Amino acid sequence: MYQKTIIFLTILLTSLRSCSSSYPFDPRYDHAMSPSVYYETNHQHGHITHNRLTKTRHAYAPRSSPGAFNVNSFGAKANGSDDSQAFMKAWEAACSSEGTVYIVVPENRAYTLKPVKFSGPCKSSLIVFKIYGKIKAWKNQSDYKERGFWIVFQTVDNLLVEGGGRIDGNGKTWWPKSCKINPELPCQEAPTAVTFVECNNLMVRNIRLENAQQMHMRIQKCENVKALNLMVTSPGDSPNTDGIHVTGSRNILIQNSIIRTGDDCISIVSGSENVKATGITCGPGHGISIGSLGAHNSEAYVSNVVVSKSTLIGTTNGVRIKTWQGGHGMAKNIIFQDILMQNVTNPIIINQNYCDQPKSCPEQESAVQVSNVLYKNIHGTSSRPEAVIFACSKSIPCQGITMQNVKVVDLISKQDVSKASCSNVKLDTKGSVSPLCTDHS
Ligand SMILES: *[C@@H]1O[C@H](CO)[C@@H](O)[C@H](O)[C@H]1NC(C)=O
Ligand SMILES: *[C@@H]1O[C@H](CO)[C@@H](O)[C@H](O)[C@H]1NC(C)=O
Ligand SMILES: *[C@@H]1O[C@H](CO)[C@@H](O)[C@H](O)[C@H]1NC(C)=O
Repeated sequence: MYQKTIIFLTILLTSLRSCSSSYPFDPRYDHAMSPSVYYETNHQHGHITHNRLTKTRHAYAPRSSPGAFNVNSFGAKANGSDDSQAFMKAWEAACSSEGTVYIVVPENRAYTLKPVKFSGPCKSSLIVFKIYGKIKAWKNQSDYKERGFWIVFQTVDNLLVEGGGRIDGNGKTWWPKSCKINPELPCQEAPTAVTFVECNNLMVRNIRLENAQQMHMRIQKCENVKALNLMVTSPGDSPNTDGIHVTGSRNILIQNSIIRTGDDCISIVSGSENVKATGITCGPGHGISIGSLGAHNSEAYVSNVVVSKSTLIGTTNGVRIKTWQGGHGMAKNIIFQDILMQNVTNPIIINQNYCDQPKSCPEQESAVQVSNVLYKNIHGTSSRPEAVIFACSKSIPCQGITMQNVKVVDLISKQDVSKASCSNVKLDTKGSVSPLCTDHS
């Protein structure tokens, strides 16, 4: 097992390295155009410090250069009326130009956008979408023809989104209409604030995403993605407001970000592989999740996931794998390492009986197989006595689950009174592990 883990880690590191070297971004350009740490994540205090000096120095650089397309020049007013036509024109101009191009959203102004789709492929070799100011969502819901989307980037390669500005989904007009909030209403999708579909070589950094209508950011069918220094926030009771959702994507790095929302801080679902999340501060929210997988008897594959150097504060789950009964496929080669839990309800959980629907889910034989999962150096406090839950499938038990140097104690007493509830799991322990399964089979 240990050897397998080492081999897997080596493969993963190699693949992440080759992924980063395949980025089109010239490091000299990076240095010149944007500070490497424009936001400094402050884990101690859970907030981001704004580096004004650096911002001012760089904010004006691209505006006068030939490849810069300022949305104001295309008619954007930032006065509360719809600016999406101006943004679309700026996008079309940039996308049909050669070389490195900039789309500039000026600072100290708030632009309102109806649903917009920025589509490629583009002629340009690199598109830099500089958001200095604020982009906020159009409120009238009947103008969202495709209910799942607000801002979409589709089939755009070599895209960099940055600038220190913010994207606000105005979610508070949508949340009360969720069936999670009002069970009498039908369950309907609300827009994801920012969706990247089939975007290869994508970097999103130094921006704030807030109050999404539903999910904040979705990475779908993309390859080679870096999401860095993001601040993602919405109220802890806002429905289904996942922070960053990864689906069907490969070679993904999510790093140094603060995520406080009403659902999973990060969710990684089917078809995703080589996903690393590190330096994440999560909470409030539902934790960092792989899944849910296998809903409606579907087939799901997730592999090579590392979650490391992260802190979860007051979340309902810590690190979670969730699958529905009746699914097929597998979730394998997963490492949760160097994680601090503070006041987490379910710090470590595998739930193969996940059921997020109004009526109860029938018992089914098939399941998404969970295997080769390492929990290493996980410490902190649990707000419930059951700090560890492995609720695995009876017919397809969890295999190759390892816990190494894990200590989760009770939030109030700070004592080892926590328990582990384990069923149908092949578990291996190394170093000191507490709580230990007493009833595992
Ligand atoms: C915004 O500016 C445009 C163009 O000047 C104008 O037609 C529109 O009425 C303004 N909207 C608001 C809400 O002030
Ligand atoms: C919302 O948009 C629809 C259709 O575009 C329109 O009929 C309706 O009057 C708008 N509602 C408000 C409150 O502006
Ligand atoms: C623990 O988290 C819960 C839920 O987020 C919160 O209500 C409570 O105040 C927290 N307790 C402590 C001691 O931080």
